[in-house]
Amino acid sequence: MKFEVISTNLEEVKSDSVVIQFFEGTEFPESVLTLPESIRGEIASPIEAGGFKAKLGQVLPVYPKSVGPVRCFLLVGLGKKQDFSLEAIRQAHGYAALKAKEIGSSSVAVPIPNLPPYSAPEIVASVVEAVNLAFYRFDRYKSKVEDSKYPELISLVVEPDVKTLCDTAAQEAVIVSEAVKLARDIANMPSSDIPPKKLAEIATEVGAASGFSTKVFEMEVLERMGMGGIVGVGKGSSNPPVLIVMKYDGGGDTYAVVGKGVIFDSGGISIKPSEKMEEMKYDKSGAAAVIALMKAVAELKLPVRLIGIVPAVENLPSGNALKPGDIIKFRNGKTAEIISTDAEGRLILADALAYASEMKPKALIDLATLTGACVIALGTHASGLFSNNDRLADALIKAGEKTGERLWRLPLWKEYFEQIKSEVADMKNVGGRPAGAITAAAFLMNFVDSGIPWAHIDIAGTAWTQESSPEKSYIPKGATGIGVRLLIEFLKSEIKGG
Ligand code: BES
Ligand code: ZN
Ligand code: ZN
Repeated sequence: MKFEVISTNLEEVKSDSVVIQFFEGTEFPESVLTLPESIRGEIASPIEAGGFKAKLGQVLPVYPKSVGPVRCFLLVGLGKKQDFSLEAIRQAHGYAALKAKEIGSSSVAVPIPNLPPYSAPEIVASVVEAVNLAFYRFDRYKSKVEDSKYPELISLVVEPDVKTLCDTAAQEAVIVSEAVKLARDIANMPSSDIPPKKLAEIATEVGAASGFSTKVFEMEVLERMGMGGIVGVGKGSSNPPVLIVMKYDGGGDTYAVVGKGVIFDSGGISIKPSEKMEEMKYDKSGAAAVIALMKAVAELKLPVRLIGIVPAVENLPSGNALKPGDIIKFRNGKTAEIISTDAEGRLILADALAYASEMKPKALIDLATLTGACVIALGTHASGLFSNNDRLADALIKAGEKTGERLWRLPLWKEYFEQIKSEVADMKNVGGRPAGAITAAAFLMNFVDSGIPWAHIDIAGTAWTQESSPEKSYIPKGATGIGVRLLIEFLKSEIKGG
């Protein structure tokens, strides 16, 4: 599938399908007004007949009776004008694209009308991302794949004066959405096919192709580096743990991102109930997002220095596994008493955050499918946000509003730190059921230097579509790739803001 930006009169467009967007209860969009009267009439009749209400995501194919190159007009609803956002664009165009595929269009044109307050390049980027992501399927393990073809060419029709800007926006959106697809692929992979070492190989290959360096630390080195959390959690599996450190140098300020890479979380000795345990292959979603983010940032050549850190382990019970009651020592010298081996994410992130802190980044952000408690608190509609810095938290929230990856901040008051005090070590890894998402974040905060702006994003409810996930056209079942678009948007806003 290819995307192109063109600026031609809609009448001259020769694509199989043309997508026409409408707000609920409004008149023809401007772009349609340039169409011949007869076609306008054909589009108007289903609207007048009440079949098309332009509700968000509603798509109605209209086949013109008149002979011409356009076989179908795909009327798509953007919903109510007062609720309009880039998210509405993504949703609507995702559905339009799926319909275009269903009806067998090999080329699709999307006129980009003026939709303030958003600029044409912003809308182009949203359309490209949504279309590319709506077609994502994790079907590599299926012996037979559905054979209906994808459209080959998507043409975005824009005004001549914004063509160059829209061209760039479309190219960047392809880079970004391809990275999101990589994140989905990694997170969707069955754990047996992606042990920690394999994850490191993937990161290394992606780095070589996209322009970032990768260093992989293995068991012995991790022991020498004092990474008791990664070693402790990783030693229960015959697939040894690794720490993956990726670096991209585009000049400018240094940012660090850390992603939880538990390729499978059985709970370890504190084993999980078997119901839905298969979903714990998604416990590497933070890692997937970080590797994909490195790829996108390197390919976009953003003027930042970015360090991506992924502690990768498999949390299994065995004769060598970590046990409740054990005490481990982390990279920064602090110790923790293990209450539950199922609270493993914070143990591997502790070492990774301490290590990242040593590099004194301007901001340090971690992404982790960390707690079931976060899913209880926010459901699947937002990721949890925890931070020691208001400016950083606000910038991330703003980025999330824009990309449709909403964040909701929860407090880190000192009382929560009391909950994880231990009699025998500096802290314990579980603070009881109340405020479970917050005490996990409080645990992590012990491993970040207090001078470094840090944010922890708990993506347990948003990393894959769960029963309660709302249906979204561009987010099919399985891993969502959450965090990639969010952090690109965040880094871009940092670059702009200086
Ligand atoms: N990977 C899980 C968190 C999780 C659970 C994510 C369900 C998504 C859906 C994490 O390692 C975990 O098991 N956390 C425990 C912590 C508890 C033992 C304090 C949890 O949330 O139950
Ligand atoms: Zn766990
Ligand atoms: Zn986990």
